[in-house]
Amino acid sequence: MIGEKVIWVATLPSTNDFVKENWQRLLHGTVVVAEYQTAGKGRYNRYWHSPEGGLWFSILFKPRKQIKPTFFTKICSVAIVKALSLTEVDTRIKWPNDIYCEGKKLAGILSESVFEENTLKAVIVGIGINVNNTIPQELRDKAISLHEISTKVYDTRIILRLLLKYINQLLKRYSNEPEALTRIWKGLLIQKEGQMITFKLNDVIKTGKIVKIDDEKIILEVENQQMQLSSLEILEPRLI
Ligand code: BTN
Repeated sequence: MIGEKVIWVATLPSTNDFVKENWQRLLHGTVVVAEYQTAGKGRYNRYWHSPEGGLWFSILFKPRKQIKPTFFTKICSVAIVKALSLTEVDTRIKWPNDIYCEGKKLAGILSESVFEENTLKAVIVGIGINVNNTIPQELRDKAISLHEISTKVYDTRIILRLLLKYINQLLKRYSNEPEALTRIWKGLLIQKEGQMITFKLNDVIKTGKIVKIDDEKIILEVENQQMQLSSLEILEPRLI
């Protein structure tokens, strides 16, 4: 069970680093939460602002069978959307796994994998949710917190419990049917196949039609040619 063991500490540099350094001695399903992180990490080596009031935690998955690590990331992003909908906050996933509300980022996921001799040994899924924390001025046009959306003050422990409940439910339901999970995840994405999106390529803003979306890439048709897009380049989705 995910969350059977929860290690809740006041502070750590990064919960992901802690789990990555200790994955061998920690049990499958261990969750490590820090009330604040001093060196929170985002994707692409970005700094992740993690003051008190947010929910910053990492989950250790030790898969018993070989499965794509992105399976666990999708489980978590879908679980976040479902759990937050119970708190009456309507969110969507910005490809591949950012959680958005009102056009701003509410939560992010950083997945890291441990392979030994080509065998997947562990997946560490780090989740950061802006809950009651204040968003710094310089991020206010891009990021939002649950408190800002609803003016409520949330109990991060209740949100964590709810999330873990959904993660366990989704794991049980989709472990043998990962394609069905992908369909659910795709349904929650802001970006849709057939949609026009704008993106930046070598500092030039371009528009293209989404031909196909999967875990690792988005294929676009731009000026009658197909090209692959990475998440860094997406600016905004725009419906035709
Ligand atoms: C992103 O969107 O760039 C991913 C952000 C992930 C942040 C979380 S907070 C808990 C865990 N520990 C970290 O250092 N990072 C992840």
